[in-house]
Amino acid sequence: MEASATSKLLVSDIASSVDHVPSNYVRPISDRPNLSEVETSGDSIPLIDLQELNGPNRVDIILQFSHACSSYGFFQIKNHGVPEKTIQRMMTVAREFFRQPESERVKHYSADPKKTTRLSTSFNVGTEKVSNWRDFLRLHCFPIQDFIDEWPSNPVSFRDITAEYATSVRALVLTLLEAISESLGVEKDRVSNTLGKHGQHMALNYYPPCPQPDLTFGLPCHKDPNLITVLLQDEVSGLQVFKDGKWVAVHPVPNTFIVNIGDQMQVISNDKYKSVLHRAVVNNDKERISIPTFYCPSADAVVGPPQELINEEEGSPAVYRSFTYAEYYEKFWDRALATESCLDLFKVSNS
Ligand code: OGA
Ligand code: NI
Repeated sequence: MEASATSKLLVSDIASSVDHVPSNYVRPISDRPNLSEVETSGDSIPLIDLQELNGPNRVDIILQFSHACSSYGFFQIKNHGVPEKTIQRMMTVAREFFRQPESERVKHYSADPKKTTRLSTSFNVGTEKVSNWRDFLRLHCFPIQDFIDEWPSNPVSFRDITAEYATSVRALVLTLLEAISESLGVEKDRVSNTLGKHGQHMALNYYPPCPQPDLTFGLPCHKDPNLITVLLQDEVSGLQVFKDGKWVAVHPVPNTFIVNIGDQMQVISNDKYKSVLHRAVVNNDKERISIPTFYCPSADAVVGPPQELINEEEGSPAVYRSFTYAEYYEKFWDRALATESCLDLFKVSNS
């Protein structure tokens, strides 16, 4: 490894000066991307058009939600109501953030997952053995006024643009939660009502080009611990979803978001809807930016399914014990993205 690579905190400041992947990023042979085996053609996940959600075809769209959430755990959405301008501005300011000099970026660096605004690298540098080819800025963003003063003030438009984006995506999420509640056969405010005061985090993921993308991950295989994730990605592929025993690439489609079910939605639906394994791989010549919004319960919320979805007599007893989101979230960060889902730790039979 070059001397310069060892003194750098962020992988973006290492990537440009190496022609091989430094040893601390190299995965064991049994845990590599095997990129030649990934399914890269065809329609990978369902596409739902939200335009019709408030029209005469609502029932059909709700059925599409129920199919997508139970069979895939992942879908794309179009006509989602977040203005194209808002999306473009968000992506541009994210790119500008990561293009700033190292001295400006590292001001926000922290390895502590409990910090509500921080720049970091890999996943959890405190607990993991092998690092990942990713830097990320993580922001809590609901309620905005509680956090905006912590956000980067460079680029100068960062706070305004990010606040506008977060507000618009939150409105979209609330619409999705109503549709998902309906698709579960419960009142439309049911899911929203289980989230306490609600929480919303964002990550700005930056994946630099990588000299040996077959040896490492941008983000290894994981399930999202939150309720539901709305992912914006640039035009570079990298996201892959595990479906029927295979890794399937989800290629970017302009002006769509990718939505996935997180662990809390699996709990609330009492296992009807699935939080699904996914990962991000890197490539030889292009940087990639993705911006997930992680919508979640507030830390103090006690998470569990609505009564209507529990029926001991008819064979659908509660699958998970009740817990606070704070408890779940802490376990997630401690586990260094172990393949087995964090969910298993909260099963009734394990408690
Ligand atoms: C995540 C994630 C995928 C991507 O941040 O949890 O799964 O494409 N990201 O960056
Ligand atoms: Ni994820």
